[in-house]
Amino acid sequence: MTSDVVTFAIEDRIAWVHFNRPEKRNAMSPTLNRRMMDVLDELEFRDDVGVLVLTGEGSAWTAGMDLKEYFRETEAEGLKGVRRSQRESYGWWRRLRWYQKPTIAMVNGWCFGGGYGPLFACDLAFAADEATFGLSEINWGILPGGGATKVAVELLPFRKAMYHALLGEPINGKTAAEWGLVNESLPLAQLRDRVVAVCRELLKKNPVALKATKDAVRRVGVMTYDEAEDYLVRAQEAANSYDNDGRREGLRQFIDEKSYKPGLGAYDT
Ligand code: ACO
Repeated sequence: MTSDVVTFAIEDRIAWVHFNRPEKRNAMSPTLNRRMMDVLDELEFRDDVGVLVLTGEGSAWTAGMDLKEYFRETEAEGLKGVRRSQRESYGWWRRLRWYQKPTIAMVNGWCFGGGYGPLFACDLAFAADEATFGLSEINWGILPGGGATKVAVELLPFRKAMYHALLGEPINGKTAAEWGLVNESLPLAQLRDRVVAVCRELLKKNPVALKATKDAVRRVGVMTYDEAEDYLVRAQEAANSYDNDGRREGLRQFIDEKSYKPGLGAYDT
């Protein structure tokens, strides 16, 4: 199914989502950000989707925010326009960070600035050796906003994060992998096969456990050890109960059999 600036296709339970403005190097315009949220919404709970891959058409993954449509044109609308376009972009990145299914960034080419938002939002990231990454904000006179500085500090050691942000020098996929911005880098011609292989491994796993695990990895980073230990015990218990046959039976007796009312008492075990 096609929606203009974002396209997707589902093959063997893998949803391939494409940034699709190759003529603008897949820069994220307000229109693209709105479409992406719709596409994520449509795919998230489909039974025929077990993993989502985000990639780009043409030579770019994404050249970051659209400097004309996202910055200049929304700034011309005043604060209201600026805040709206921020909500739209940050909104789908947040949605992706906590997505129900595992997500993979398949970085086929240019990845700059605002692109670090969806890069970090994806659980795993694989890049072409030929890809180019950069915090280019400093090169046109702003700081790496929209979470980009946070992404650099989350993923890179302090000195590398600082150098990357202050110098605005591009790095290739190999360096991005060495630094930890992505999991792996490999020649572009091999990138898709490697991502498919990873997807197939993920598709063999229990989906409830996958969601609990990806959330746990993101959550525990800011917790003390004891808080993390407590959170993880409870997250596992929550995952157990999510698949609990008893809970399904309770729903069945209320909705189908109409034999009890949960507000007034318990179902018959
Ligand atoms: N915003 C708006 N338009 C863009 C962007 C962008 N981020 N990136 C590329 N485009 C447009 C160009 O203006 C050009 O449009 P035109 O054909 O109407 O003139 C078209 O896409 C093709 O771009 P070229 O520069 O001709 O493509 P090339 O392959 O030579 O270079 C590159 C690609 C390196 C990505 C270059 O376009 C570039 O530097 N883009 C800006 C990258 C950037 O710094 N992004 C902002 C990061 S900061 C942030 O996101 C907050």
